[in-house]
Amino acid sequence: MKVATCAVGFALVSRQVCANPTANNPQDACCSALAQEAILAGKVIFPQDSAYDARLAAYYSANSALPPWCMVLPTSTDDVSKIAGIITANQCPFGMRSGAHSAFNGSNGVQDGITVDFGYLNTTTYNADTKIASIQPGSNWGDAFTALDTYNVTVAGGRASVVGVGGFTTGGGYSFHSNAHGFACDNVANFEIVLANGSVVNANPTENADLWKAQKGGSGNFGFVTRIDMYTIEGTQIWGGFTSYNLTKRDEVFNAYINFTENSDDQASQNIVALYYDSTGFALRSILTNSQGIENAPAFAEYMAIGNISSTLRTAAVAELVPEFTGPTPLGQYANWMVGMTTNSFDVLDFIDRALKEYATKMQAAAPDSEFSVLIEFQPVTTMMVDHSVKNGVNVLGLEDVISTGPTLMWLIALTVDTPENQEVILPIALEYRDAINEYATSIGANKDWNYLNYAWVDEDPISDYGAENIALIQDVASRYDPTGAFQKLRHSGFKIPL
Ligand SMILES: Cc1cc2nc3c(=O)[nH]c(=O)nc-3n(C[C@H](O)[C@H](O)[C@H](O)COP(=O)(O)OP(=O)(O)OC[C@H]3O[C@@H](n4cnc5c(N)ncnc54)[C@H](O)[C@@H]3O)c2cc1C
Ligand SMILES: *[C@@H]1O[C@H](CO)[C@@H](O)[C@H](O)[C@H]1NC(C)=O
Ligand SMILES: *[C@@H]1O[C@H](CO)[C@@H](O)[C@H](O)[C@H]1NC(C)=O
Ligand SMILES: *[C@@H]1O[C@H](CO)[C@@H](O)[C@H](O)[C@H]1NC(C)=O
Ligand SMILES: *[C@@H]1O[C@H](CO)[C@@H](O)[C@H](O)[C@H]1NC(C)=O
Ligand SMILES: *[C@@H]1O[C@H](CO)[C@@H](O)[C@H](O)[C@H]1NC(C)=O
Ligand SMILES: *[C@@H]1O[C@H](CO)[C@@H](O)[C@H](O)[C@H]1NC(C)=O
Ligand SMILES: *[C@@H]1O[C@H](CO)[C@@H](O)[C@H](O)[C@H]1NC(C)=O
Repeated sequence: MKVATCAVGFALVSRQVCANPTANNPQDACCSALAQEAILAGKVIFPQDSAYDARLAAYYSANSALPPWCMVLPTSTDDVSKIAGIITANQCPFGMRSGAHSAFNGSNGVQDGITVDFGYLNTTTYNADTKIASIQPGSNWGDAFTALDTYNVTVAGGRASVVGVGGFTTGGGYSFHSNAHGFACDNVANFEIVLANGSVVNANPTENADLWKAQKGGSGNFGFVTRIDMYTIEGTQIWGGFTSYNLTKRDEVFNAYINFTENSDDQASQNIVALYYDSTGFALRSILTNSQGIENAPAFAEYMAIGNISSTLRTAAVAELVPEFTGPTPLGQYANWMVGMTTNSFDVLDFIDRALKEYATKMQAAAPDSEFSVLIEFQPVTTMMVDHSVKNGVNVLGLEDVISTGPTLMWLIALTVDTPENQEVILPIALEYRDAINEYATSIGANKDWNYLNYAWVDEDPISDYGAENIALIQDVASRYDPTGAFQKLRHSGFKIPL
């Protein structure tokens, strides 16, 4: 047996030699401890298993599809409790994955360690008496909405069917219902969480309330979230869709965006404007939505007066609507996101659009044969959204200060590239583009210096933007619920707590 090779190698090497893990090295100690646990029988998968490749292929972004020593796929809270105990006892490096929709290398998996994959914890149940939906972290929002449709209720969940529940909700969660109900995390009645020592706790307004608050934005820093109980919203019908505009309508669309964001007090209506580039050229579109299914709400009058090329706007159950927003397909392309926030400024929109022309042209010239796309999304964070957060018990996102002088503009760059070689030349240009936007926004006094965790690039340190008080709470909660620091030292995926 080539066990020695296994100790230094992984991925393709370990595919051949790690079939019978032994306890001679850390990777074998961790994976064999898991595999030997009776309740985990059949739930630990190794590189030679076909399920291992299938799980890697199901990552949204090829950048984050890291091949671990082994993956473990719990099917119950007890399983997760056992896994936590083994991780702590053996000091196993680990990654955690729910829907696997975060994009960067290291966002939801690990190479030198074990990936705890919540993909089989994917059910949604509804309690008609309490009106609470219990959603497991490995579900995606399309499945969760479909399950709830039966009861004519929905939740403030994701806007694309494929997006996962666990990462989305623990990182905030911008929903079509956010103006009316806040972020997804603000709608959490209770988190069930498995701590590093294997204990199972509930975190809600009356039990472990500090952990409940910290978990609303604190991501994977405290434990493994195994169930999310959410308040539901009556009715499932949403009006929404893409509307495409001739690029000559740019100023009208930008004005409509700024005016809507500044002036609308319609809690059901929300707007997004997107710029897009691929080898076929530039495009401009909006995503208008009304979470009560009302068509052409008066809040959208300025948008409706702009001539358009095409529109998919319609009223439908949210489960029917969300597949439309599922981003580039097929899976397995190289996705990269960067985010920032400014005041609700026309000048910022104008700068980002003009700079896109320049930087996209540079990218195309640097990798002429590449099939890549750049999507820019403008989404407001409004006073209405944040007021709901406050009303529902407060999260740790720290947005109260950020929006105290008015609604803000959250911008997102989503770069999707076909191959790692092309990415190597295009990504640095995208990062230059991001830096240019921040520099410009700072130069005109518009920069809000707040990076949304669920869209953040690996170097954007989103939790550091939550404000001193929230960071102190997060640090305190982590030190009490995870006293050995397993989720800081052993967890190798996602964003950490600033020191
Ligand atoms: C097509 C598309 C559309 C999107 N639309 C939206 C949108 O409308 N609104 C929005 O806000 N975001 C959106 N996002 C971003 C999305 O919120 C993040 O990618 C989010 O992380 C996805 O959740 P996930 O379960 O797939 O996370 P994963 O990628 O699986 O995990 C990301 C991180 O979340 C944490 N985490 C995951 N599971 C758990 C758990 N069980 N317990 C504790 N921590 C955990 C971990 O730290 C992990 O590293 C979108 C992304 C895509 C690709
Ligand atoms: C992720 O990053 C590590 C460390 O830089 C690197 O070895 C690995 O090849 C990367 N994986 C992917 C899928 O990009
Ligand atoms: C949940 O996961 C199982 C196992 O991968 C899969 O068969 C099933 O289709 C998934 N979705 C739902 C909604 O159960
Ligand atoms: C679903 O709920 C909405 C909002 O309460 C209501 O208007 C509608 O009549 C309900 N539909 C059904 C089929 O019960
Ligand atoms: C956009 O408008 C210009 C000027 O009116 C026109 O020449 C062009 O054909 C339009 N493009 C599309 C795609 O409709
Ligand atoms: C907003 O609306 C007003 C008219 O109500 C208009 O003059 C202005 O150009 C619009 N755009 C911005 C960015 O204010
Ligand atoms: C798009 O244009 C069509 C045809 O003119 C019009 O009926 C529709 O209301 C427009 N929609 C939007 C969102 O502008
Ligand atoms: C597990 O950790 C929690 C939080 O630190 C603690 O309250 C609990 O007593 C611990 N449980 C065991 C069995 O040690």
